[in-house]
Amino acid sequence: MPAMGFCEWIAAGRAIAEGQLTRYGNKAHFTDEVEQELCQLTGAKHTLTVTSGTSALIAALAAAGIGPGDEVLVPAYTWMATAAAPVMVGAVPILVDINETLTIDPEDIERKITPYTRAIIPVHMGNAPCDMDAIMAIAQKHGLIVIEDACQSVGVRYKDHHLGAIGHLGAFSFNKMKNLNIGEGGAVLTSDDQFYARARSYHDLGAMIRGHEERYNQPDFVGTNMKVNEIQSAMLQVQLRRVQPMLDQMQKRRAMMASILSHSDDFVVTPHNDNDNAVSLTILAATREAAIELQGQRGVWSRLYDCSRHIYTNWEPILTQRTFHPKMNPWKWAKRDITYSPDMCTRTLDILQRTCVVNLGLKYPSFVMQKVAERIAA
Ligand SMILES: Cc1ncc(COP(=O)(O)O)c(C=O)c1O
Repeated sequence: MPAMGFCEWIAAGRAIAEGQLTRYGNKAHFTDEVEQELCQLTGAKHTLTVTSGTSALIAALAAAGIGPGDEVLVPAYTWMATAAAPVMVGAVPILVDINETLTIDPEDIERKITPYTRAIIPVHMGNAPCDMDAIMAIAQKHGLIVIEDACQSVGVRYKDHHLGAIGHLGAFSFNKMKNLNIGEGGAVLTSDDQFYARARSYHDLGAMIRGHEERYNQPDFVGTNMKVNEIQSAMLQVQLRRVQPMLDQMQKRRAMMASILSHSDDFVVTPHNDNDNAVSLTILAATREAAIELQGQRGVWSRLYDCSRHIYTNWEPILTQRTFHPKMNPWKWAKRDITYSPDMCTRTLDILQRTCVVNLGLKYPSFVMQKVAERIAA
């Protein structure tokens, strides 16, 4: 994640000094500006900032009209927000295995599609892009909506396109662990006018009094409040300038280390859906035992299975189908019985048990990380 420092402090101070903290205030401008800059960065026609990545996913689902009786395909390896967002709009998540790229497996997507499937949420985990060509082709074939969860990959590209701006809708997170860090925050991306108007209506229950010039024939409906404030947007503008240099550095470092690691007989570099733009680096051992040995002996960061809270077996409220009110339980409205069990995605568990994270060590000079890679590969 980019450093947070003096410039963000000055930007936040400027927003406070201007005295207009709400985005729809008279002289407010930071939020409008940063949304335009996010559009320029990603190529999406519309960007709508919201309070978190979770909010962005919920607003995107609401914008697409996903609701009770609908099934939404999500990977078994992601932060629970991806699976929880469908529940918040009355739909149910259906778990899909990942493949060795650590992203949703297009073949398993095909297997999990039912007459009730309405959407797919591919998640670009840890800056690793999903196989978007395959996913968009499946979506088109079956008439499904694709909402990219690009919360962990802001700024990353896939074959000349920006993640988050490839599907019908996309979601970004700006929490403290992400490529853009303002503590908490997020954004919905879309190039569809109607989806944008609906997301805007959902994220701001006062949308009808804001004087929006263009409503794209979408009447406002009852929404909620997910609006960001001007302080967040001012900080985000600064962070946005830092992201590309950071990703460029990651890309160079990754290429150098991956080429050294690829000579090892003990593991392979995790296959990537777009090697030319790759900024994520993990290695895949043949067995769970070999991965444990690797992390113990060669200073590899950790096995994903051990260091990640992003595995479906940890999603207790989803596995037990527990909601805040028993009558607000989408599994009761589902068109068929949906059950979950800890062993339902064993392929995902196997891959995560065999995958180790390799730190790119951006704080260190390149020659140090070259030595680290040589040691791991030895
Ligand atoms: C893959 C993924 N999706 C969604 C989210 C939710 O983002 P936020 O924490 O901003 O709500 C996160 C955040 O950790 C995430 O990693």
